[in-house]
Amino acid sequence: MSSPSRLKIQDLVAAQRSGYSLAQAFYKDQDVYQQEINQIFLKHWLYAGHVSQIPQSGDYFTLEFDTESVIVARNSVGEVKAHMNVCRHRGSRICLESSGSKKSLTCPYHAWSYSLDGELLSARTMPEGFDRSQHGLHKVQVAVLHGLIFICLSEHAPSLDALARDLAEVFVLFGFDTMKLAETKSYRIPANWKLAVENYQECYHCAPSHPEFAQIHAMAKAPQVFQTAKANFHQDQQNNPKFKAFNRYFDLAEAGQEGYQYDRNPLLRGSVSGSAGGKAVAPLLGNISDYDGGASELMVGPLSYFLLYDDHMLGYRFLPLSEDECVCDVSWFVHEKALAGKDYQLDQLTWLWDVTTQADKKIIMNNQQGVDSRYYQSGPLSAMEHFQQHFLRWYLQALTR
Ligand code: FES
Ligand SMILES: [Fe+2]
Repeated sequence: MSSPSRLKIQDLVAAQRSGYSLAQAFYKDQDVYQQEINQIFLKHWLYAGHVSQIPQSGDYFTLEFDTESVIVARNSVGEVKAHMNVCRHRGSRICLESSGSKKSLTCPYHAWSYSLDGELLSARTMPEGFDRSQHGLHKVQVAVLHGLIFICLSEHAPSLDALARDLAEVFVLFGFDTMKLAETKSYRIPANWKLAVENYQECYHCAPSHPEFAQIHAMAKAPQVFQTAKANFHQDQQNNPKFKAFNRYFDLAEAGQEGYQYDRNPLLRGSVSGSAGGKAVAPLLGNISDYDGGASELMVGPLSYFLLYDDHMLGYRFLPLSEDECVCDVSWFVHEKALAGKDYQLDQLTWLWDVTTQADKKIIMNNQQGVDSRYYQSGPLSAMEHFQQHFLRWYLQALTR
């Protein structure tokens, strides 16, 4: 980044009022966007997928954001590996489909062929002295946490140790290893990625914008009502790992460690799951023995969120495509033994969060249109937007680090 751009960003960060929404330039400026890619998306762990998506050697899927594409594949001995989807010959994309199965990764342009570990296996008619070993695919760091696959493009990724330690009981209890992906939907949103992330982090908008969600989740209530419901829900649960709370998110993350958060919150009026009428929609997950009328929020790294009902899990991921477009990928997980059409109905499983995410897409687009106006100015945040305030503090620090 050139020094005038750096100075401009420093000035913007210095001028940003705390407790207020971001100034317009943060949502529109190309230099700010490039800095975000460098400082956030290339440096942090991103949720890529689940091991159930690539059960066999050679199975792969890709993850795309900004100008980048990453291939996540299971190699010949069953390990999960990730490489940049950029040929070392003249740079073509290698995998053109978003998922599939291949014995080797062969570039469609001139047929250079790579192993699932990224080594260059063959390159036709190259001159004498050409060293194949120097032309393997760029490696990407991978971490598999109880079945969840995360990638990081930096060689200096933050440590996942604290997160893995604190969340181990949660991962085991909900059986992250024994889940399978039931459905995934991508929602392309013509808005800056931060408007999507900020929207996900606050439930100030839930009551007016999500009647279906607000009927089921106590979180949509005013802070005092919610806190009382939560205190009652957590009573006598001190030793239950499901009811522990870890608040190491954003600016509260330990130095050198990736951020994380876990907390269990009550549902309303006898609801047991995130569905029409709060009814059960799938067999219980992992080692869960019964419905408790709650749902857990889980954040792994700054950009990946999970919502744990007793019978299914939602994954949420936000990725930028450009400074004015992003994608929200939503994944629904059930117990690996649950059969579609028999143990769960896909439309019932996905209904609540499909309706909710469609509504979110609309309000995020409206938000971007207003932010684009010459009359937009930073507005004051409410008490129900405190999580978002942590995000904004962390974000501003990340830009200038
Ligand atoms: S660009 Fe891949 S083989 Fe030429
Ligand atoms: Fe929402």
